[in-house]
Amino acid sequence: MATSNPVPVRFTSGDVEILIGDSQDVLPKLVSQSIQSCITSPPYWGLRDYDHEAQIGAEESPEDYVERLVGIFREVRRVLADDGTLWLNVGDGYARNGGTGRSGPNAQVGNTKKLIQKRNCKVPDCWGLKDRDLMGLPWRVAFALQADGWLLRSNITWIKRAPMPESVRNRPSNATEQVFLFSKRPKYFYDNQAIREETGANLRNYWLLGPDPGGTSHPAAYPRELVRRCILLGSRPGDVILDPFSGSGTTGVAAAELNRRAILIELNEDYAVQSRSRIDDGVQRVLGIPAL
Ligand SMILES: C[S@@+](CC[C@H](N)C(=O)[O-])C[C@H]1O[C@@H](n2cnc3c(N)ncnc32)[C@H](O)[C@@H]1O
Repeated sequence: MATSNPVPVRFTSGDVEILIGDSQDVLPKLVSQSIQSCITSPPYWGLRDYDHEAQIGAEESPEDYVERLVGIFREVRRVLADDGTLWLNVGDGYARNGGTGRSGPNAQVGNTKKLIQKRNCKVPDCWGLKDRDLMGLPWRVAFALQADGWLLRSNITWIKRAPMPESVRNRPSNATEQVFLFSKRPKYFYDNQAIREETGANLRNYWLLGPDPGGTSHPAAYPRELVRRCILLGSRPGDVILDPFSGSGTTGVAAAELNRRAILIELNEDYAVQSRSRIDDGVQRVLGIPAL
């Protein structure tokens, strides 16, 4: 499909290619302007350990995290068609000094133990952050991308029907995340008829979505309906969709269902294997082929 000097293509499921590797290395090998829409959710800073040296999210400081994402999305801008769009879901976090939450730099349980915990657990020395400050990372990433040349076109609030429970008593529990719509140029492909409000009005920028029934074992999968909306609004059938942090392959599943091609990049081979079977199952369902 869209590779010039091809990187190892391990799996092809229908029109979905899954490339295993660090996006920073793989993206430069993709052909310029070959992608219509990039839909993705990078790891959030300091939250989970994806068990790889090159993982995003384990940088020493949130400033380094933002800088690294800007570099990766600069490559995404190069591979995007001139009328293409980027749909970016990023989560926030708190600056913490000590503490042992279920997740975050100081967590003592779950899959957060390794690289993330080796990091200095003091409040990062940047942006005037103090202990327990909400870092505002989604907007910091958005502003940095804007400064790097992206046009920031919308801030969609994803309202979670079933948010992760939090045992907090001194603030409301978090139940939303941001999805930013960026474009490369002022004029871009956006099919405002593809999804409308029930009243027929233009789609609003808050989306109430639940987790997918059945789900996946990936700890941070986003709902298929979220990707479905971005794909329908931002591409035509046959277009190529990119996800440089594909995890369990939700973007590929939705792309295959909507008759789009897709290139997925994932660092962790286990997740890539998992996404292959998810996508194969999805393709079989769409074609009406009974599962073996
Ligand atoms: C938030 S998860 C994405 C989940 C995905 N949206 C889904 O629905 O399953 C981020 C993924 O990025 C992967 N990742 C981390 N650093 C990466 C890198 N440098 N290049 C490619 N993938 C990376 C992680 O292994 C993880 O699976």
